[in-house]
Amino acid sequence: MLLTLRVQGTRYSLRTGNCSRSRWLASNAVVEKSPSPAQPQLEVNGSTYATDSWTNVTPKILSYLGANKHLQKDHPLSIIRQRIVNYFYGAYRNQRGNPLFSVYDKLNPVVTVQQNFDNLLIPSDHVSRQKSDCYYINKHQLLRAHTTAHQVELISGGLDNFLVVGEVYRRDEIDSTHYPVFHQADAVRLVTKDKLFERNPGLELFEETWTGSLADPKLILPSSKCMDQTKQPCHTLEAVKLMEHEMKHVLVGLTKELFGPRIKYRWVETYFPFTQPSWELEIYFKNNWLEVLGCGIMRHEILQQSGVHQSIGYAFGVGLERLAMVLFDIPDIRLFWSNDSGFLSQFSEKDLHNLPKYKPISHYPQCTNDLSFWLPSDVDVDAGFSPNDFYDLVRTVAGDIVEQISLVDKFKHPKTGKSSVCFRIVYRHMERTLTQAEVNDIHKQIANASVDSFNVQIR
Ligand code: DAH
Repeated sequence: MLLTLRVQGTRYSLRTGNCSRSRWLASNAVVEKSPSPAQPQLEVNGSTYATDSWTNVTPKILSYLGANKHLQKDHPLSIIRQRIVNYFYGAYRNQRGNPLFSVYDKLNPVVTVQQNFDNLLIPSDHVSRQKSDCYYINKHQLLRAHTTAHQVELISGGLDNFLVVGEVYRRDEIDSTHYPVFHQADAVRLVTKDKLFERNPGLELFEETWTGSLADPKLILPSSKCMDQTKQPCHTLEAVKLMEHEMKHVLVGLTKELFGPRIKYRWVETYFPFTQPSWELEIYFKNNWLEVLGCGIMRHEILQQSGVHQSIGYAFGVGLERLAMVLFDIPDIRLFWSNDSGFLSQFSEKDLHNLPKYKPISHYPQCTNDLSFWLPSDVDVDAGFSPNDFYDLVRTVAGDIVEQISLVDKFKHPKTGKSSVCFRIVYRHMERTLTQAEVNDIHKQIANASVDSFNVQIR
């Protein structure tokens, strides 16, 4: 409901997973007004970046860089990382018995627009590029919105079997399953004809009629909804089918390794700009089908751009928080950022296969306060106003004691034409009881900051 404000009826929540199909299907970018940058330069990870009208990273968001929860000893996200990595080490070995996959889990999350989008054939007007969805450092650089952003640099460097694990940044609503920073693992596996068709040397990776020349970037089409999703024109059906079989076999193996051999699963055809054909794997969990990963046969243009001409590849991406929440029964995504020993002491990587169920530290009461304001007269509630700007402000002012924010009301005054919005903010501390006076004080600070930042008028 919140996001329909911006994307004309297309709800594309990203959750803790990463590959909601509607995100990649939607394609109607909205031009937004940008707040002017607070400072001309920004220091991120020891480098200095120029800011511009695209800059929307906040100090709060930048404070997550380097937290590396996926590498922190005994952290549930680190345990999930190790389970995935160990599975891949075991699933693929070379002739000497050594793991085939290499793992990159400390890559810099500051990437270029080229890495995050262009290299992956994401159309220039795609919704996922919007300022309201990403944390931009400036027009050309952003905090990666998915770990897929590193594909081309690693393939260009000569790698053909690798995993990338790290945190990703997306602007989103706040609730128990949404957080602006979460973690993903992405993998790529490339194989040559000799390897894929070891037992059928007469078969080919590429259609005989296909010229094999590097596609002119201007002529690369988005693998849009209407294009044949069975296979890419360059590939033979045999190559695609064998690759699909291997990929699905390995990913079902991973799922069974994580959730147990009896887990119920299904494949759902989907669409990603960087793979064709594409699928999502869903598991049946607590009476619901839950999407756990996205995958597909890599677009050949991506390999060509990386200097690889004689291979076919598969890739997949998975959200670690979602897996951890299911596997450990962790009810709230904010717990992954807790430093409370009551939380952290529950998990141990000593016994990777005996995952304990999370025991709630305690239940503290919630406090709910509403905040209504008039938008400036030149800003319309359905255009030019992005709730994500407000969510970021709330997060910056109040931090993790905000459990949920929802837009509960909006309307336009028939006479003045001014738009009004009302947000409901639910406060709850993970580790103690908040007093109403304390909440009122923070609520007031949010109201004041909204007036200062958005020029709104509190009602
Ligand atoms: N990057 C996608 C997302 O964040 C997930 C994904 C899908 C990654 C397919 C892949 C892939 O590598 O092949 O939604």
